[in-house]
Formats: sequence, structure tokens, C-alpha cells
Amino acid sequence: MLQLRDVVKSYDGKSTVTALAGITLSIAPGEMVAIMGPSGSGKSTLLNLMGGLDVPTSGQLLVAGKDLARESEKARSLFRRNSVSYIFQAYHLMPTLRVRQNVALPLQLAGVSAKKAALQVERVLAEVGLEKRGDHLPDELSGGERQRVAIARALATDAPLLLADEPTGNLDSARGREILALLRSIHANRNTTIVMVTHDHDAASVCDRLIRLRDGRVEDDGVVIGGGR
Ligand SMILES: Nc1ncnc2c1ncn2[C@@H]1O[C@H](COP(=O)(O)OP(=O)(O)O)[C@@H](O)[C@H]1O
Ligand SMILES: [Mg+2]
Repeated sequence: MLQLRDVVKSYDGKSTVTALAGITLSIAPGEMVAIMGPSGSGKSTLLNLMGGLDVPTSGQLLVAGKDLARESEKARSLFRRNSVSYIFQAYHLMPTLRVRQNVALPLQLAGVSAKKAALQVERVLAEVGLEKRGDHLPDELSGGERQRVAIARALATDAPLLLADEPTGNLDSARGREILALLRSIHANRNTTIVMVTHDHDAASVCDRLIRLRDGRVEDDGVVIGGGR
């Protein structure tokens, strides 16, 4: 699914910051992977590269055998629209849109007809257990419910790759565990490849594999013993 070869990402400012100092790893289709590491170790930068939101300074980033860094901006934008979806710590819902409209957004962007989109929206809302909340505004929901809406929005386009940046970071531990159980069941039912950045040991323990970053490098990469539950 994803192959990174000696990926370096640096940011030029007053001084150059090397966020990723040479990352080599591959992620197979259907894996569920946690990325952990201290703040500033490059986790979000790595996730953004995997999502085609940014390009490496050097090295290769192959998606289905194609080097995303060498693709045109147009091809990368198609990749972002059709092949990858994102969930964030702070949900990033549109506050003035109803739940249903928020979930429909990526389908509208992809040019799906209103009728088809409406069916798909109901389907994914049911998948996250929010079939009765379609008419609500985000403000009327709890944090856990908002994250479910964001997950429904991420599922709407049936993208094969789901990237999550601290998805339980704003939730109490009980709500966090519910979200993790939901992600785990999505992974099991849809065989979606999931890469999740997290500080949460519960989150790492539902994954099959844990990659630890430190100072922009892979410090450790291995199977989670007893993971995947
Ligand atoms: N857009 C940016 N411009 C300059 N420096 C950045 C930018 N994004 C991240 N960095 C720097 O890159 C390093 C890694 O950041 P990040 O990937 O956000 O780490 P993490 O998500 O692990 O906390 C940090 O030193 C951060 O300050
Ligand atoms: Mg981060």
C-alpha cells in the first residue's frame, strides 16, 4: 500500500528543521498501525506525507508502486480525494452544517450525485451508530459523537487508507476506548488500512503494529503483543 524509502522532510525557516531524518518503512494493505513518539518527533509530518498533503524533501514515497512526490499536484489531489481519508484530534467539522451535510461533503467534492450521496450518508451514519443524529448541528453533540461524525465522513468515500492524528486526544478514556473499538471494527469489517498517530497506550494496543519515532527516525517497529483486540 505505502512504501517509504529514506524519506527526509525538512522545513526551511530562519534555521532548517529536519522533521524526518530518513524514514524507511512499508505498510501493507489491511494493516492497522500505531505511530507513537515524543512531541516533535515527526509523527504528524509523517502522516501528512502519507496522505499526500505534503511532499518529502528527498527520498521516495510509493503509493501502489507510484512515487507520490513525482506525481503532479493534480494527481496528488485525486489521490487525496479518492484514496485517503483523515480524522483529527479536534474533529474539524463545519459548525454551521448539520451532521448529514458534514458527512456528505467529501461525496460532493468527489462529484457523487445528491441521491447516491444521501444513501451513502445514511449508511455510514448507521455504521458509526449515529443514524438518529443526522439533523443535529455539531455543537449539539458530545465529543465522542463528534468524533463519530468525523469517522462517518472519513468512511463516506470508501477510501482504502484511513489516517488518524490523535483521534482520542480530546476524549476521556471511556469515550476514547469507544472510538478505538469503532476503528477496530471498521478495520475488521472493511479491511481498511489504518495508520493512527497517538499518545494513548490503549490506542496502540488495538493496533497490530507499533512504530516508534524519535528525532525524525524510526526507533522501533514491531508487532504489538496481544494487539488487535
Ligand atoms: N510547517 C512547519 N514549519 C516548520 N517546522 C515544522 C512544521 N511542521 C512541523 N515542524 C517541525 O517539525 C518537527 C516535527 O513536527 P511534527 O511532525 O508536528 O511532530 P509531532 O507530530 O510528532 O509532534 C518539529 O520540530 C516541528 O516544530
Ligand atoms: Mg503531531
